[in-house]
Amino acid sequence: MTARIVVLANQKGGVGKTTTAINLAASLAMMEKLVLLVDYDPQGHSTTGLGFPKPDHRAGSYALMKGAPAKGLTLHTEVPMLQVIPAGKDLAQLEFELFELPQLQELRKALEPVMENFDFILVDSPPALGMITLNALTAADEVIIPMPCEFLAMDGLAELMETIRRIQAGPNPRLELGGILLTMAEERTNLGSAVANEVRQAFPGKVFGTTIPRNIRLAEAPSHGKPVAFYDLKSKGAQAYLNLAREWLGLELATPSPALNREAE
Ligand SMILES: Nc1ncnc2c1ncn2[C@@H]1O[C@H](COP(=O)(O)OP(=O)(O)OP(=O)(O)O)[C@@H](O)[C@H]1O
Ligand SMILES: [Mg+2]
Repeated sequence: MTARIVVLANQKGGVGKTTTAINLAASLAMMEKLVLLVDYDPQGHSTTGLGFPKPDHRAGSYALMKGAPAKGLTLHTEVPMLQVIPAGKDLAQLEFELFELPQLQELRKALEPVMENFDFILVDSPPALGMITLNALTAADEVIIPMPCEFLAMDGLAELMETIRRIQAGPNPRLELGGILLTMAEERTNLGSAVANEVRQAFPGKVFGTTIPRNIRLAEAPSHGKPVAFYDLKSKGAQAYLNLAREWLGLELATPSPALNREAE
């Protein structure tokens, strides 16, 4: 077994990177995949969202990048097959350190010793196209881009796609675009489906069939330190992320996609 490294990236803030990192990771783990979530954002929201305090400089992804073995940094979560390497503010220093001495391969090298222990390593990245995000994209086999179904959603996407192309042409030819994930879809508004349509037309075949609805349970779950499936399994948010995991693994969807998806096809 060698883990596939998957980074959640979008330089825009608040688009659903962390929500997707936590809940896709938990959904995959619930499907008996061994998953490691690496919090690679100094905000540490994947860490707190899974119920952990932000670590000090010896205990998180900053320590990992400073040479601490990954094996000693992983924490077990409430989800049996999901572990996490947490992040705290100290990780922000990495932005400068990588800039001064760009060692873009370092994250992958740091994760290599544990890659045989997991099926998937998901990496949550910060809302910037800075050195930390470039470092994550260079480590990854695949990038998933969460994008809210909102006005100006595609703003900035061209820049992100160009960055991905440059990484592919340069330090990481193995990087694949896993897909664009439409998030925060308002099921009752025309704007939501209009945006979904627009994105699907602009990126044919690159947008997940599963759309993540705007769902209050998804916003509440992190304050309870739980993935949404462990907070309210029946919620639309939990079901949507389970469907995303199934779609991504190439399995049949358990429940049909909501109307928004069908309209958008
Ligand atoms: N589908 C959704 N329905 C309702 N609320 C959501 C949904 N997805 C995310 N949220 C909420 O929106 C906010 C931003 O989401 P999230 O933290 O996942 O975005 P992000 O891209 O990781 O942000 P940042 O760029 O700051 O890291 C959070 O408060 C989150 O709980
Ligand atoms: Mg985040």
